[in-house]
Order: sequence, then structure tokens, then C-alpha cells
Amino acid sequence: MSTSTEAHIGLAAASADADVISVASALGFLGFFCLAAAVVWGIATAVGPWAGRIDPDAVQLGHLAWAVAGLTFVGGHVVAHTLRPEEAFSWPEALVPFARGGITVATGVLGLLVLVIAATSFVVRTRIGVQWWTAVHRAAYAGFALMALHVVLAADEVAGLTWVGVAAMGVMAAVSVLSVLRWRRAAHREHAIAAGNWGLDP
Ligand code: HEM
Ligand code: HEM
Repeated sequence: MSTSTEAHIGLAAASADADVISVASALGFLGFFCLAAAVVWGIATAVGPWAGRIDPDAVQLGHLAWAVAGLTFVGGHVVAHTLRPEEAFSWPEALVPFARGGITVATGVLGLLVLVIAATSFVVRTRIGVQWWTAVHRAAYAGFALMALHVVLAADEVAGLTWVGVAAMGVMAAVSVLSVLRWRRAAHREHAIAAGNWGLDP
């Protein structure tokens, strides 16, 4: 095979990889924005009610919908990286921190693991009790922070200050402010809303 044919094949493969990476990137940003919304709706769930002005059930449902959508998009982001034609991630590389890609990828892997634990702990809430479940679920703040660091380190859109990158940083700033405000104000009642609608008797 001539050198120029090899170069052509190399370029075609690199551009096939780039196509899959751009799908992965879109899914990653969709996942990021949905999970940011899940944190905001989660905070609203914890600090409500709002003197009857907003339906707490709708807020809880919103929280669940954003969380499920966000985790699904991020699942797609990871699957896309395992399907890259040239430099595919193996599943251990995609799911074990520091298996590939250093701190940039590891923050994404760790963030996702923490968020999945925070979300799935809901299934065992009655077995571990509401106090423990709440503590485990609050790890979602740390999971979100790790995920945000991954986006800052990995995204060309953030480095290049495109509108998506700037929007992502704005959302990170807004979620940070809301999280600080939430921690300065105790949950309005000991899990009253959760107890009523999620089978979490305190
Ligand atoms: C998919 C399953 C999930 C369920 C069923 C669920 C359910 C809940 C419930 C019932 C609360 C209110 C707790 C209370 O009243 O004290 C809550 C709070 C919260 N959730 Fe989720 N959640 C899920 C996933 C997530 C995910 C993926 C995130 C992060 C992106 C998240 C972030 C939060 C946050 C930040 C709070 C506020 C915690 C606090 O400050 O006390 N949740 N969630
Ligand atoms: C918390 C969940 C995650 C979110 C929200 C997320 C989101 C993102 C975003 C927005 C980018 C920037 C895309 C670009 O500018 O091209 C990115 C890059 C990247 N992510 Fe994630 N990610 C997450 C978890 C993971 C995991 C678990 C892996 C493991 C395979 C991973 C692997 C990568 C890689 C390799 C890149 C760099 C791609 C490139 O070369 O441009 N991410 N991620």
C-alpha cells in the first residue's frame, strides 16, 4: 500500500472517530444541562413548600424526570466513546477511574459513579432508613461538582468560549450559588414532602 493511500485511510478513520466524538459531545452537554436541572429541582424538593403556590408533587416529578433524562444522556455519552471506530474506550476504561485519560476523564467517571449511587440508593431507602438515604443522596452535590470539573477540563467548547461552553459555565455558577444558599437554610421540615409522596416515613 502506498504511503498516500495509508495517509488517506488514516484521515478517514480519524474523521470517523471525530464524528462519533461530536455525537458523544452533544450527549455529554445534554446530560450536563439535565443533571444541573435535577440538582435545582432537588434543592426545590428539599426546601419547599411554597405557601401553596407551587405543587410539590410537580416539583418532585420534575426532579425525577431531569435526573432520569440526564443519566440516560450521559449513558449515551459513555456508550458513544466505547463505539469510536479508531480509539474506542473498553468498558473497564470507561468505568474505572484513571484507567485511561488521566484526571480529565477520571473526574467524569467518578462523577457518574457518585451520581448513579446517589440516584439508585432510592431503591433501598426503606431498608437503610430515611436518615441514611438522605445522607447518601446528598453525595449528588459532590457528584455534580466532579462532573462539572470533567466538563471544564474536557470540553473544547469551554476552552474556546463558544456559546455552549459559556452557558455551561453560567449554569455551574448558578448551581453553586443555589447549593450554598440551600446549605445556609435547613430543609424546611424533616422530610415532610418526601415522607408524603415517596414512601419515606421519617
Ligand atoms: C433518579 C432517582 C432520584 C430520585 C428518586 C430522587 C429523589 C429525591 C428526593 C425525594 C429528594 C428530596 C429529599 C428531601 O426532601 O430531603 C431529592 C433531593 C435531592 N436530589 Fe434527588 N433523586 C434522584 C436522583 C438525583 C440525581 C441524579 C441528582 C443529581 C444530579 C439528585 C440531586 C438531588 C439534590 C441536590 C437534592 C437536594 C438534597 C438536599 O439538599 O437535601 N437527585 N431527590
Ligand atoms: C457525569 C457524567 C459526564 C458528563 C456530564 C460528561 C460530559 C462531557 C462533555 C460536555 C464533554 C466535552 C465534549 C467536547 O467538548 O468535545 C466531555 C468530554 C469527554 N468525556 Fe465526558 N462526561 C461525563 C462522564 C464521562 C465518562 C464516565 C467518560 C468515560 C468514558 C467520559 C469520557 C469523556 C471523554 C474521553 C471526553 C473527551 C472527548 C474529546 O476528545 O473531545 N465522560 N464529557
